[in-house]
Amino acid sequence: MKDSYGREINYLRVSITNRCNLKCRYCVPEGEIFQEKESNLLTLDEMYCIIKAFTKVGINKVRITGGEPLIRPGIIEFVEKISKLEGIKDLAMTTNGILLKKYAKDLKETGLSRLNISLDTLNAQDYTSITGGGQLEKVLDGIKEARAVGLGPIKINTVLIKGFNDHMIEEFVEWSIKEKVELRFIELMPIGHGISWAKEKFISAETVLKTVPDLREINSTDKSSPAQYYELSDGKGKIGLIKPVSCKFCNHCNRIRVTSQGDIKFCLLNNDKVNIKDILRNSTEIRRIEDIIEYSIMEKPEFHQLENNQYMKTNMYNIGG
Ligand code: GTP
Ligand code: 5AD
Repeated sequence: MKDSYGREINYLRVSITNRCNLKCRYCVPEGEIFQEKESNLLTLDEMYCIIKAFTKVGINKVRITGGEPLIRPGIIEFVEKISKLEGIKDLAMTTNGILLKKYAKDLKETGLSRLNISLDTLNAQDYTSITGGGQLEKVLDGIKEARAVGLGPIKINTVLIKGFNDHMIEEFVEWSIKEKVELRFIELMPIGHGISWAKEKFISAETVLKTVPDLREINSTDKSSPAQYYELSDGKGKIGLIKPVSCKFCNHCNRIRVTSQGDIKFCLLNNDKVNIKDILRNSTEIRRIEDIIEYSIMEKPEFHQLENNQYMKTNMYNIGG
């Protein structure tokens, strides 16, 4: 279905939990305890109903996000049900990879098409520090396992943080070539708790262009992808740059989001939303749900609001990126 600016909306991101097994310092405020009344969260069956209704208006790509999606009980059965939905061509997940070693095989077998993994450093101590206690080795083992079972392609999301990982850009690039994963550097966005972090630690993705020699921009075939891709010298591979701050990609946005509490969000960086949970719980009419979905797509704003300094107060773990 097209929105009111003529953009085809075919990509749904569903955050199935706002809890996470890590506490990345730019995402989760210090001392935050994840707690949400169970009844405030959509059940996975309710999520399934909503996704099914979205497929009726042309959604064919679904990404499961969190918090951390792999900590939600029932995740494997959920992936299996979604992968069997008529109309779904691409079923992906964004994860921190901590539990991937355990789940990679099941995810592959139940129909997950591909994975994006968040990884901001290759140094074990720094990893523990930025994630509030996580172990890098678990993520690396998870990546190995995912590759061993043929779950891929795998993309690595690396948020650029001044003074933390900007000295490691070339090391990351070398590592991604060795591991045969697609590396994407992301600009730190001023969202929720990330607002204060972005003020002090934002670095533009242009830094990568200055650091890695002889990058050549590749003309993208997928205009809706948030990443701009660059070929490495000697044809060794490619890296992506995601620049929501310095170069927004709203013109080609094809996404809509549902949060674990049942908010349909029209844009990542905009406060507008409509809650579908109570309507779903009080109405058995699937048509009513479809109407709300159609309304949400038509309400998608033309552009996000970062440049007006109207920053989103909601924390990223409540939206799922
Ligand atoms: P692909 O389907 O593999 O292209 O994944 P993706 O890039 O859509 O998803 P992923 O969860 O890996 O997100 C990568 C980064 O892009 C994260 O930092 C997201 O927050 C950011 N991002 C994703 N969608 C949007 C969006 O609609 N607007 C903005 N500004 N950033 C986004
Ligand atoms: N800016 C940019 N990316 C962020 N992510 C989380 N918070 C931010 C932020 N403030 C990334 C995570 C994950 C993806 C879903 O979003 O690292 O890779």
